[in-house]
Amino acid sequence: MISTLHSRPGGADGDPAPRLAYGADYNPEQWPRDVWEEDVRLMREAGVNVVSVGIFSWARIQPAADQWDFGWLDEVMDLLHEGGIGVDLATATASPPPWLTTAHPEILPVTASGETLWPGARQHWRPTSPVFREHALRLVRAIASRYKDHPALVAWHVSNELGCHNVYDYSDDAARAFRGWLRARYGTLEALNHAWGTAFWSQRYSDWEQILPPRLAASHPNPTQQLDFKRFSSDALKDHLRAERDILREITPDVPVTTNFMVTPGTKGMNYADWAEEIDFVSNDHYVHPGPQDRDELSFSANLTSGIAGGRPWFLMEHSTSAVNWQPVNVAKRPGELARDSLLHVAHGADAVCFFQWRQSAAGAEKYHSAMVPHAGADSDLFRAVTGLGATLKTLAPVAGSEREPAKVGIVHDWESWWASEQDSHPTSLLDYRQEALDWYSALLRLGIRADLVTTRADLSRHQVLIAPVLHMVPADLAKDLTRYAEQGGHLITTYFSAVVDENDHVWLGGYPGALRDLLGLRIEEFGPLLAGDTVELDDATTGSVWTDRITVTDPQTQVLAHYRTGAQAGRPAVTRRETGGGSAAYVSTRLGVEGLTALLPRLLGPAGVESELPADIRGAVELTVRRGPDSRFLFLVNRTDSAVPVTGLAGEVLVGATAADGTLTLGPRDVAVLRQPTG
Ligand code: GLA
Ligand code: GLA
Repeated sequence: MISTLHSRPGGADGDPAPRLAYGADYNPEQWPRDVWEEDVRLMREAGVNVVSVGIFSWARIQPAADQWDFGWLDEVMDLLHEGGIGVDLATATASPPPWLTTAHPEILPVTASGETLWPGARQHWRPTSPVFREHALRLVRAIASRYKDHPALVAWHVSNELGCHNVYDYSDDAARAFRGWLRARYGTLEALNHAWGTAFWSQRYSDWEQILPPRLAASHPNPTQQLDFKRFSSDALKDHLRAERDILREITPDVPVTTNFMVTPGTKGMNYADWAEEIDFVSNDHYVHPGPQDRDELSFSANLTSGIAGGRPWFLMEHSTSAVNWQPVNVAKRPGELARDSLLHVAHGADAVCFFQWRQSAAGAEKYHSAMVPHAGADSDLFRAVTGLGATLKTLAPVAGSEREPAKVGIVHDWESWWASEQDSHPTSLLDYRQEALDWYSALLRLGIRADLVTTRADLSRHQVLIAPVLHMVPADLAKDLTRYAEQGGHLITTYFSAVVDENDHVWLGGYPGALRDLLGLRIEEFGPLLAGDTVELDDATTGSVWTDRITVTDPQTQVLAHYRTGAQAGRPAVTRRETGGGSAAYVSTRLGVEGLTALLPRLLGPAGVESELPADIRGAVELTVRRGPDSRFLFLVNRTDSAVPVTGLAGEVLVGATAADGTLTLGPRDVAVLRQPTG
């Protein structure tokens, strides 16, 4: 059985033995009938045991408002079932058909400048359109009723990547729904006027009907209005998710419901920490953006997905076997990368490895996007790599269902701070929330120190060290929690532009960072952002960019770990640490980058008693993650380099990996090994 999925006795997924899921989006409607049988045969050959079907099938399933065509899908479901392949069946609502948008153009999204997003691509619907909602839910009900007892059905796949192209809609429907959302949040106009600071620029509202989404304006729209619109837009999509889910749960209470998140570079509109509890298991789509930190970023995203899932197993719903089609240049993966990328997700808790898509399209906008079966066909290195990975995943069956073993270090990821810190009219537009967090993560990888990405909803006290990069928005409760954390023995590390505003994006007054000033034992009178390309030297031989602060130490317990040596703050503190009775609170006032953080971190982690769990000779070359099952720990060792790395000094049964006659394990370039250690 696949731990996250539904199984029925004798059903497609009726095998009771635990295993990992392997598969793809499957779009049989793009192919003639005779290809379907070959598909199932090749899926079996590759070890595929689950596919997502029907994601973009609305026009095919419902060719007209009162016409339904399920015959083809019945056949597909039956064929897959006969092949022993489970179906994660989509609700097919992601892309409305032409008949619907022609009859109801009022479902089309509108941009901030009032342009309509027309049909012709996909996801051209307003999350708040009552007309769209009605048609979508009718479709969900029809599909769920038709397939509720189908033995191939193992999970429901709500829509697809909710918000991928339509998170921000500024239409009149959105305006109406936004007002409703604001009424629920604030209760009175007075409270809204206070929260939005409308005394500024004559923005005071005297009637709810005056309030609009932050449409294209003459200058910077009100920041709290912008922030609330981000919150609202995430909630509006979440509301759509719940509406579909409720119908699915009503008709099939035993079939788990998921939707594919996009914890991946470039997506920040959906607050997934807040969505996770709405679904039965977390799924994620991840695509590599080639660059110097690309695989660190993959690890970061997989790690964060695990954090969103509360450390429980999750489902990698999509990634690519090789190139994508939507980057400026779409780089093919090198040998070994397909498996390494996949297993890195498993290392971080994925119990499923799936791709977009099964068979590479011959037509349409994604025809140059790689797939499990490429244009060249099954006689290809790519399909052989796909089959090889299928075999590896079979070997890794014992890992299925295991959870992540908490690391000593946690890195906090907070959507509200992400949104708020990157808004316009700030001290700098160069601040990059995710990049700062990724730099800390990369530095920890270099030091061979395991860290968990966690959301502010997690139990933060689980970690001995908590790194909170650019935790910009710190409401009073969070300030209290973080203070208690450090006072009770935790080691907090935070950075520039943290703890500056409350939940309304109002500045905590009296000197920055107002919400944590006392805990950090310092006071900042003025920010000192740096121009693009400018750097400052610190007296510990590291270099800062993007930001500096004019810091005064206010507490005798605050130690200065590094001063600025150059620039406007020369001679002033740059990095500080205040002991808090067992714990500590450290502050890093500039962007040190991966190099600088790698140099600094041991000074911060040493007093917290955190060291690498890896043998010294492979730190930095190998990433370690640990999953824990009922009677075993699984150590995943990922070669971060392009050269072979011999591994000695780690005990365990080798589940995956090449061992020499003398028992030594060597990781080939980009290889992954998995060791199993029994637990008592
Ligand atoms: C997203 C979508 C898929 C496909 C891939 C291509 O993840 O969900 O339908 O478009 O991107 O990378
Ligand atoms: C202009 C405006 C002011 C203020 C400043 C800010 O001068 O008149 O209201 O916005 O810009 O620089």
